Amino acid sequence: MANPTKVPFLDLVTPHKELEDELLAVVKKAFSNAGFIGGPMVEEFEREFARFCDAKLCVGVNSGTDALRFALMAAGVEPGDIVITAPHTFIATTEAISQAGAHIAFVDINEQTYTLDPERLQEYIEKNCDFDPQSGKLIERSSKRKVAAIVPVHLYGQMADMDPIMDLAAKYGLLVIEDACQAHGAEYFSKKANAWKKAGAIGKAAAFSFYPGKNLGACGEGGAITTNDEAMAQRMKMIRDHGQAKKYYHDMEGYNGRLDSIQAGWLSVKLQHLARWNEARRALAHRYHELFAEAKDFIVVPAEAAWTKGVYHLYVVRVPNRETLQAALAEAGIGTGIHYPIPLHLQKAYQHLGYLQGAFPVTERVAAEIVSLPMFPQMTVSQQDEVAQKVEEFLDAKVAATL
Ligand SMILES: Cc1ncc(COP(=O)(O)O)c(C=O)c1O
Repeated sequence: MANPTKVPFLDLVTPHKELEDELLAVVKKAFSNAGFIGGPMVEEFEREFARFCDAKLCVGVNSGTDALRFALMAAGVEPGDIVITAPHTFIATTEAISQAGAHIAFVDINEQTYTLDPERLQEYIEKNCDFDPQSGKLIERSSKRKVAAIVPVHLYGQMADMDPIMDLAAKYGLLVIEDACQAHGAEYFSKKANAWKKAGAIGKAAAFSFYPGKNLGACGEGGAITTNDEAMAQRMKMIRDHGQAKKYYHDMEGYNGRLDSIQAGWLSVKLQHLARWNEARRALAHRYHELFAEAKDFIVVPAEAAWTKGVYHLYVVRVPNRETLQAALAEAGIGTGIHYPIPLHLQKAYQHLGYLQGAFPVTERVAAEIVSLPMFPQMTVSQQDEVAQKVEEFLDAKVAATL
């Protein structure tokens, strides 16, 4: 029988205990005026989160999935358009694309960063599409569809290589909507701008999720979009609220996709701690790197490119035989996860897209070997040592087996 949990994959109890009084004060405030939807708490959080992301504007919504979908719709992606993204991401990225009426085109990831590979993106555009400089439209040759947007995913808290992605987007008239659902506070050094830029401050808009386990998590569902585009923010506010700017005056059909006031209040409380929590994650990640340094021939630790300051939403390593490692860690009471085991292009949900095994070799290789180790800001040094020791025991056994 497995040991009782010694190191959880994620500890969501401790941070809420630590902030209990402040979080309960938010509920009392909401009860005092029964302001549960919209109002000052939502507006305050939107202002604070925009500031945190170095963006002009923020629109709070019901989830990260809504954030992506509303951003694509408000940016002008039309039914039938193509939106490009990576097959190595959570399905919400592509659900949002399909639900905006668009078609998904996958482009493989880079093997070091696990994010959309700009070289593969360029290859897709140059080999499969024609650009009409007069109309400014990029058309996929085989389907005759217009390519409208790119959704780079800042996976595991590491940003995609945005400079070349933005250059390609500018050259071919494409919108860029960042999927920053795992990357609150992550930074990217833009050589072009000669400056560090935050996730959420580069593309036309960016989507964030506040699912409880995220770096900034609500106590329920929540999400937000950041943008510098005033008109787009207005459209997203209408889309989240049944297409109305004024009560019962509906300019279009929208959604019930608003952020609750209590969630916004809780997010404001937690936002004050986010920079500190991200630093704790970075310190833990660097310590994991050091602990595994001697075993580097047998375990691939996350690579942090010189142009990124990751916020380690997840600490994902690659090992052959990861199921055996997971079983050994579970036996020792240590939680793990796999993000994600089946690449999206091979999921049943996307059979109709007609992608075959081998279509995206980097994604497929990575998906077969990754395992996410415990990572949360409150993890103690002794908990981390416990994880590292068990991983090393597993790796030693593997080495011995090859002798
Ligand atoms: C990469 C990515 N995109 C989108 C989402 C969707 O966010 P939500 O679960 O808040 O809808 C998530 C979170 O689960 C995610 O990890």
